[in-house]
Amino acid sequence: MLVATKASALLPAEELAGLWSPAGPYLNTASFGLPPRPAFEALQAALADWRGGRTSWEGWAEAVEASRAAFARLVGCDAADVATGATVSELVGLVAAALPDGARVVAPSVEFTSNLFPWLAQGSRGVETRTVPLAQLADSVRADTTLVALSAVQSSSGELAELDAVVGAAREHGALVLLDATQACGWLPLRARDVDFLVCHGYKWLLSPRGTAYLAVRPERLAQLTPLHAGWWAGEDPHASYYGPPLRLARSARRLDTSPAWFSWVGAAPALDLIERIGVEQIHRHNVELANRFRAGLGLDPSNSAIVSVERPGAAAKLERAGIRAAVRAGGLRVSFHLYNTPADVDATLEALW
Ligand SMILES: Cc1ncc(COP(=O)(O)O)c(C=O)c1O
Repeated sequence: MLVATKASALLPAEELAGLWSPAGPYLNTASFGLPPRPAFEALQAALADWRGGRTSWEGWAEAVEASRAAFARLVGCDAADVATGATVSELVGLVAAALPDGARVVAPSVEFTSNLFPWLAQGSRGVETRTVPLAQLADSVRADTTLVALSAVQSSSGELAELDAVVGAAREHGALVLLDATQACGWLPLRARDVDFLVCHGYKWLLSPRGTAYLAVRPERLAQLTPLHAGWWAGEDPHASYYGPPLRLARSARRLDTSPAWFSWVGAAPALDLIERIGVEQIHRHNVELANRFRAGLGLDPSNSAIVSVERPGAAAKLERAGIRAAVRAGGLRVSFHLYNTPADVDATLEALW
């Protein structure tokens, strides 16, 4: 039986009201998430300050540290183990560049390319990347595997990886694991310490602007990564790192940072604060209930994902006519449910599809 999700259970009703103002039902968080009001307003205020030349940049940079700390709490590690950058692909690229010549990587065949091209791009020095169906990933880890790269939740289908099995196989064969949590972090509870590297972009389920990506590194792996993007910001004291040698990098994972895109981080910190206050367990329940309400309406069995992907010819046009935002991926309709969605959104979508 369906249990209606009450949006008001997430936060007191008066607080929830007005946090988001989508133009219509928005079922496309797997493409990009919508900023909650405090994030949007913080960004507008920073832009106004920028335009008016009313402030120095240090306050904007504080948002990077607030976001780094909040992300670390979300994935259960120390802020000192988290590097920040602008994209997933650049952060995966740091790990790919650190692989030895001739390394062997294995990844799912429909993996999002930001977690595939960085490995393939190392091919000229003999790094070999093999792709296999997601369901066979754990069984495909072999004695010669250097690293397993995978997403916690597949972008195209919403399918969850069998992480315990993959990590177990990697440990058994002495392979490293890099997990892309971009389609998971913010609704699916995850622990960075289960893997060697956890990478995530904040602009989807963490409701942040683009340009806010994270790499949580297992502390004993940090020394193996070359800080390829190091500049003044990666210095132990950025304010004492503007000019001249010697190299004086942060001891923490901040040594791997790219200099921050300030405004993106100004928008990220309040969004992460909201996610923390509501709690990932609660968001998980809310999102999966909505996804399963949608699945039930289509006669499908329940699943464990906030993303639903279905073959439904003509669906994209029908939803567009009804003013409902969704996506077409790998030929199917992809809908995704997050904090701002309600049972009424699900019902409107089902009605539009008939
Ligand atoms: C699983 C996954 N990883 C990463 C990204 C974004 O990668 P990048 O930051 O390199 O643009 C996406 C975007 O759709 C994604 O779905």
